[in-house]
Amino acid sequence: MAVQISPSILSADFARLADEAARVEGAADWLHVDVMDNHFVPNLTLGLPVVESLLKAVSTPVDCHLMIEDPDRWAIGYAEAGAQSVTIHAEAAKAPVRTLRGIRSAGARSGFALNPATAVDSYEDLLPEIDMLLLMTVEPGFGGQRFIDGVLPKIRRARQLISKHGMEIWIQVDGGVSDDTIERCAEAGADVFVAGNAVYGRDDPAAAVQALRALAEGA
Ligand code: DX5
Ligand code: ZN
Repeated sequence: MAVQISPSILSADFARLADEAARVEGAADWLHVDVMDNHFVPNLTLGLPVVESLLKAVSTPVDCHLMIEDPDRWAIGYAEAGAQSVTIHAEAAKAPVRTLRGIRSAGARSGFALNPATAVDSYEDLLPEIDMLLLMTVEPGFGGQRFIDGVLPKIRRARQLISKHGMEIWIQVDGGVSDDTIERCAEAGADVFVAGNAVYGRDDPAAAVQALRALAEGA
């Protein structure tokens, strides 16, 4: 799989979201939108109305990462609104098969996320329902946290499981991905890289995206 970079607008200026999205247009493959409900994670960001407005204002495909307690209720609405990828968490979904199928039926790619402490092996049977597996490399909730190296073996394991079944599932990493850590993730088998601080914390976010891409491609 080709390397893809998904800048997280969690590290952008929320008062100027469309402008911030425009700063990575043409450079980024996706725009990563972190939806947090202050229940699944101890932080609150934005919901469907803001995503609907954003979708009208941006041309980069939108990758919605739902860190919410009841994704079975909400996820399909994000796909119906036009998000091109919608990711739900293993730790929150009660009916993941139904919800992942609903996301696909609504025309989006289905994403399934695992927190750092959640093992991938239990989800092998679910792989046919998943277009992208998100392996969190920090505890979800905040940008700018330190990358957890202990997740690297899980990335390798996930890549093995996916190859064993001859599947084309993308592996996304999210949290602490930077110039210092992206190569390790790529070597382990990740191909979609979320970066908040490492893109929007820079003066030139588009150049930061290209630098990250070059490092991942060279790994
Ligand atoms: C954290 C979010 C991430 C966050 C990553 O829970 O899911 O998408 O924006 O930020 P950085 O890249 O700064 O760790
Ligand atoms: Zn995220």
